[in-house]
Order: sequence, then structure tokens, then C-alpha cells
Amino acid sequence: MTSDILQKARAFEALYGPRIPDSERPAFHATPAVGWMNDPNGFSFYKGECHLFYQYHPYSNEWGPMHWGHLKTRDFLRWERLPAALAPDRDYDSAGCFSGSAVELPDGRQLLMYTGVRRDHNADGFLQDIQTQCVAIGDGMNYEKWEGNPILDGKDLPEGGSTIDFRDPKVWRDKDGTFYAVIGNRTADGSGAILLYRGIKNRKWEFVRTLDRSRNQYGKMWECPDFFPLDGKQVLLTSPQDMSPMGLEFHAGNGTLCLIGDYDSEKGFTRQSAQAVDYGLDFYAPQTLEAPDGRRIMISWMQNWDTVHAKPDPCRWFGQMTLPRELSLRDGRLIQNPVRELEAHRGTRVVHRNIPVGGELSLPGVRGRVLDMTVTVRPTGPELYRWFCVRVAKDGEHETILRYRPDQGTLKLDRARSGLPRDIVHTRSFLVRPRDGEIKLRIILDRYSLEVFVNDGEQAASAVIYTRQEAGAITFEAGGAARIDVEKYELTFDE
Ligand code: FRU
Repeated sequence: MTSDILQKARAFEALYGPRIPDSERPAFHATPAVGWMNDPNGFSFYKGECHLFYQYHPYSNEWGPMHWGHLKTRDFLRWERLPAALAPDRDYDSAGCFSGSAVELPDGRQLLMYTGVRRDHNADGFLQDIQTQCVAIGDGMNYEKWEGNPILDGKDLPEGGSTIDFRDPKVWRDKDGTFYAVIGNRTADGSGAILLYRGIKNRKWEFVRTLDRSRNQYGKMWECPDFFPLDGKQVLLTSPQDMSPMGLEFHAGNGTLCLIGDYDSEKGFTRQSAQAVDYGLDFYAPQTLEAPDGRRIMISWMQNWDTVHAKPDPCRWFGQMTLPRELSLRDGRLIQNPVRELEAHRGTRVVHRNIPVGGELSLPGVRGRVLDMTVTVRPTGPELYRWFCVRVAKDGEHETILRYRPDQGTLKLDRARSGLPRDIVHTRSFLVRPRDGEIKLRIILDRYSLEVFVNDGEQAASAVIYTRQEAGAITFEAGGAARIDVEKYELTFDE
């Protein structure tokens, strides 16, 4: 039964969504039908198609009572809109249907597992959240919330676990058919933990173990976990709130954390390393799926909670997803590269090889705002250049800059002049490693964003930009003498 609240959301998006022209949206990054989008939810295959749900408030471009918006795709680039899937229409989720995930059931139906939030007064009379895990079952379009909801609540927490911060289940079905879910929680020390649960009979779930904990080292609450095998290791992703900066690896505020280790059903998860997932300005709450061809693919909200009030005016949709990325491990680190499907959309190719760069220059055929461009930079001779800059989305007033400093081994992303109307954090620097003296930057532009993949995916950095679309110039400049190769493709999405 579709509730009035869900029907109202579906009618609203059907009326106002189509009024937003395609030219006001990215060409291939997922955006909400109308209004606000945050975390990706339920990123998974169902009946051979990739579904993507998202945290959704259709009625404004600000966060509000959370619904689930719904998209699907066959190529991770072109998104078909489906009606909103969930609305906050039950007592246990009256304050929102928070983040969650999806899985295909053996009987061919699709299970959505999400956090139901209701609000109640605490001992001081203040309103506080009560978060429980709930399910809804459907056919890829319409979903019925289970009458036995919630399936997990405060009773199912390990000792000291918080019922205020217990959210974002990521569910999967193991090879032997058992369902598992990882869920974020806050422990007695006030910081985050990831809990593992197992599905038993009749929609009952049981606590298995705590997989890992922050112990106040990597931020407070750990949100939006994911847990999967990758290239012989086990990866635990989470998005911690209230992080402290750590060198150039982690920045303050909402960050992302990739823990790589081993998993053993007796001993649990043994963490061997910790790194950030994305080193840019806008990236949070990533979620992955295993594609039918075996690829592990990740998508993320391309936004930062701390800067959500910096919006262009007017703004009929707000929030977009990253380009889905193929994951692998190399030398114990997470490697991310754009999904290979992007290559099918490469149009005109422009190549310039071994071009000497000193003062600022542009190259014939190299401009645009929807493109895939790889720039390889090397020294001209034994003497090292001091810095190298590529500027994109440029006109007389605007530019978004990537600046490489070989002496420091840093790449800096700077979007201070990229059309954002607020004085928010606009720059981020991170460590990169040249290979054989070269640094390779694959830059993906899609109207309102820049994503850069360094040295075949060793680092990725994402940022939204709101620079007017006419600002399409691209220039290169070096302090000292460098040589560059540039390979640039327009990206085209015409039917
Ligand atoms: C992360 C998050 C989740 C929560 C959702 C609410 O961005 O805070 O923990 O489920 O957003 O919209």
C-alpha cells in the first residue's frame, strides 16, 4: 500500500522534476529528481539492472524528513528516474528513512534495509533520535514495509551501544546464502564502531561481533559502513563524523576512512592499514556493489556536510553523486578508477605530446566542461620544475586549479574561484607519488564537478564547482621548465 506521504512525494517530483532542464544538470552524474539528495543507498544489482536509491527531500534544496529517491542504470552513467521508493510514514520512521542498502532475495523480490528514525523526549526533556533497522520488500518499483519492523533495535546492541546513533545498514548475501549486514554505532567511549549482524530465520537478525572501533582515533560516530573482499584482502569503509586532521591524510569534520585488513570468521577483522578514500573537498558516505562481472564498484555523495549551505542561486536540485569508480588494491592501497563504461562516451580525441611548458599556455582543441583529459607531466632535463598548474573551468574571473609541487610531493585542489557564493573551505592538498619522475592526472569534468585520478587511481579527489558553463578554457603553466602530454576527449551522451 502506497501511503499518502509517499504518494504526495511521487506527485511532487513528477510535477516539478521535469521542469528542470537537462542542461541545468550534470551530463552523467546522478542528481535528485528535484530538491535535496545526500547519501547513496541500496546501490546494487536487481534483475540485471543497477539500482541506486538516495537520501532525498524533494520539497526543498535543504535536508529534511528523509525519503528514498530512486534511479536505475545499465551503464553507471545514464540514469533512469523511478518514483520515490520510501517515505517517512510509520511511527518507527516518522522522523526519516535514513540510509541503508538493498539486496535481491532468493524469491526474486528486492529487500531494502534502512534506518527508521523516530524522535522522543529524553530525561532532560530534549528531543532525541531513536534509530532502529527496518526492511521493506518490493519489485524494483514499489515497496511494502514489513509489518514486523523494526528488525533490530536497542535490544540487539552490544553493551554500551547507543540507540541514538545506530544506523546505515549495508546488507549482502554470502556465497552460502546467509545474509549479513554491517551497521554503524556509537560506543560508550563516545566514538564509532561497526557492528556485524547475521540474518537468521523469519526476518530475525542476530549480533555477530564488533568489526572495528574508532577508540576516538578516527573521529566520532562512524556512519555508512561497507565491508567487502577485494584482491585477497578485506576492506571496511566508513564515514566518520568529527574527525581531527592527521597530516595531509585526514581533514577535520566529516571524512572517509578505508581500513584494509583480513577477515577470519573466528578472529574477526584484523586491521592492517588506514587511509582516506578521497582527498578532495566533496566526498562522503560511499557505498559499493559487486557487479555481475565481478567488479567492485563504488559511488559516493559528492558533497561535504560542512559546506551544504553554499549553493548557487537558483538551485532546484542540490547534491550529486560521484562518477562510479572501479576499486582494486595495489601495494596495500585502495586504487580507484572511473568505470570503464565511460570510455564508450569518448568523442573527439585531441592529443599533444611532449609540449614544453613554462609560462601559461593553452593548447588547440583543449577546452570544455564535459570531458575526460589525462595530463602527464615530466621534467625537461635534470633540473626539476618547482611547480606545475592546470587550470580548468576558466574565464576572466573563474578558474579551478590543480597545482603539483614536486619538492613537497603535494597536489593541491583549489576551487576558490569556481562560482561558489560562500567563503568556505576551498582548497585541499594531499601527498602524491611521482612514478619514474612523472605525474599523471586524469581529470573528469561534468559541468558542476571535477574529479581527478592520480597515477592510475592511486588517489582520487573530488570537488563540486558552480562556475558558469561558458567558462571552458584550460591552461597549463610551470614554475621552471616541464614537458607535458595531454590526451583529451569530449564526452558525449546523445542517444
Ligand atoms: C550520512 C548520514 C547517515 C544518515 C543520513 C541521513 O551522511 O548522516 O548517517 O543515515 O545521512 O540523511
